[in-house]
Amino acid sequence: MAKYIGILTSGGDSPGLNAAIRGVGKAALGYYGMQMIGFRDGFRGFMENRTIELDTNTLSGILTLGGTILGTSRDKPHRMPVAGKLVDMTDVLVANYHRHHLDVLVCLGGGGTQKHAYRLTQKGLHVITLPKTIDNDVALTDITFGFDTALGVATEAIDRLHSTAHSHHRIVVVEIMGHRVGWLALGAGIAGGADVILIPEIPYDVEVIADAIRARSHSGKRFSIVAVAEGAVSRQDAAALRSAEQLVAKAKSSDALTKAEAVLAKAEAQHAGNTMRLAKQLEGLTGLESRVTILGYLQRGGTPSAADRLLASRLGVACAELIHKGRYGVMVAARGDTTKPVPLQEVAGKLRHVPPDHPWVATARRVGTCLGD
Ligand code: F6P
Repeated sequence: MAKYIGILTSGGDSPGLNAAIRGVGKAALGYYGMQMIGFRDGFRGFMENRTIELDTNTLSGILTLGGTILGTSRDKPHRMPVAGKLVDMTDVLVANYHRHHLDVLVCLGGGGTQKHAYRLTQKGLHVITLPKTIDNDVALTDITFGFDTALGVATEAIDRLHSTAHSHHRIVVVEIMGHRVGWLALGAGIAGGADVILIPEIPYDVEVIADAIRARSHSGKRFSIVAVAEGAVSRQDAAALRSAEQLVAKAKSSDALTKAEAVLAKAEAQHAGNTMRLAKQLEGLTGLESRVTILGYLQRGGTPSAADRLLASRLGVACAELIHKGRYGVMVAARGDTTKPVPLQEVAGKLRHVPPDHPWVATARRVGTCLGD
């Protein structure tokens, strides 16, 4: 009997998702003679049995498309909003897996998806995941697809902001995505030549940033570009946020988790608008006019870069091969030019932060970039 694959995309969309769906599908259907069905809108559509037929026609012409033809959502199997409440719908998902006579469920997603997928394997399901996110924060893979495209968009934005900052002798603070990790802000900041780069892993002191900008002014450079990750925090705010995050990580019961999440949401709400505040502070401290640009969802939209199409296709094809071999319960990780199946148990719940001694951090420091510390 031909193997029957279910596939879904979960979490924030990311360039390269369609290339990955195509990679899995074309290899599975065309090369291994399997069959495949898509579920719409992540785990939500899987729970609600909303499907999309995937055949050689539907898989054609999607390589270069941004977003995901399947649709996505951030709904979690064990905490699904139903009639205004968060309900554990895991058993319904398990029942749907069997109802469709699936041999495996392929989940394309980021850190959260790895955790949900692992929980499903604990219920006896065969699951394989592929790592996607523009944040590049999934553990145990060299890189995630979506990152390269977003890196290109953010770098081009910094390039463009240079000429206007220079012309008006202004500080331009550009906010780049990344709530918990700073790969995107750091990478784009280095590639775009930002004068200051602020990331969540390195809490900043606003006085240190102002000093760096003043020093540039004294040397005749009367503008500065500050690349700030969404989740970058001042030293003062860092402690409160970290302890709220730890509460969430350590919560044992659903009740404790709900409470801990409320504490975290409050801490994060205080952080919202941080980029605007930072720009005002810098204006006050340096006497230079400042402006803010928030790149937001531009970084997630549009056509994937060649590197992302290639990565997503490679991982997708490797996924089909693993299904053919009956190797389940793994994430297909990128390792140099090859791929590696990593047990979901090892990936679930881990985040790949920027280590303080990472070569990118050293590079930024040695070319004279201020990291705010
Ligand atoms: O995880 C990817 C990401 O784009 C983050 O960089 C960003 O903080 C978050 O998603 C935004 O999430 P949402 O799409 O739910 O607003």
